Amino acid sequence: MKPLIIANWKMNPSNSKEAFDLALSVQNELKGLNIEVVLCPPFVYVPQLLPSLNVFIGAQDCFWEQEGPYTGEISPAMLKNLGCSHVILGHSERRRNLKETAEMVQSKAKACLEIGLIPVVCIGQSAEKEFQDMLQAFDAQEISKIVFAYEPEWAISTQKGAKSEDPEHARTIMEGMKEALASAFGKETAEKTRIIYGGSVNQENIGKFLKVGFQGALVGAASLDNKGFVALAKKAELA
Ligand code: PGA
Repeated sequence: MKPLIIANWKMNPSNSKEAFDLALSVQNELKGLNIEVVLCPPFVYVPQLLPSLNVFIGAQDCFWEQEGPYTGEISPAMLKNLGCSHVILGHSERRRNLKETAEMVQSKAKACLEIGLIPVVCIGQSAEKEFQDMLQAFDAQEISKIVFAYEPEWAISTQKGAKSEDPEHARTIMEGMKEALASAFGKETAEKTRIIYGGSVNQENIGKFLKVGFQGALVGAASLDNKGFVALAKKAELA
């Protein structure tokens, strides 16, 4: 399986020219690399970036219904119809700032799968129960389409004093998740279900997380610097 590198731009940059320039330079530099790259810009830039680029474009959230009276929301169907491939769900910043619950995240993941979008579900440092609940709520076929991002909240670079998780400790969490997958759905499903790491990933440490068995990374701050992100992606290819 090729490493999956997902760029979470969060609420950046503040204008569409910068968004376009960043996406274009990343795309050009990454041409031909043997990895999968998904850029997740803010919603407003998606319609501009999608037709002009040939990298995967994802969103940073969506609603759990496909259409209807939900002021301010964006549906999975809208994203799918634009051409998006992935949607990040349950990021700790949304859980904290917007009180998003595990039930909401599950409903959103279901709505994404229903329309053919790949949910990238963020699982924090104390989310063992939540992961177990996810395993109960989905069948083997659905679960293997979800990408799980193990992302301890304290490791996110914008948190005070943040530093990346120790790769060896992260490995034990990831292996625990794989074991839970295997006991719920069998070894084959566990192998097929991607688990990636997020939290202060950069060009220096990406190799370590891939070496311990993560199948990719969710990258925040480092994805906003085109040179750094390209260097990170190149390291991922070699890991
Ligand atoms: P970071 O963010 O890479 O800046 O730590 C990761 C994330 O929040 O998804």
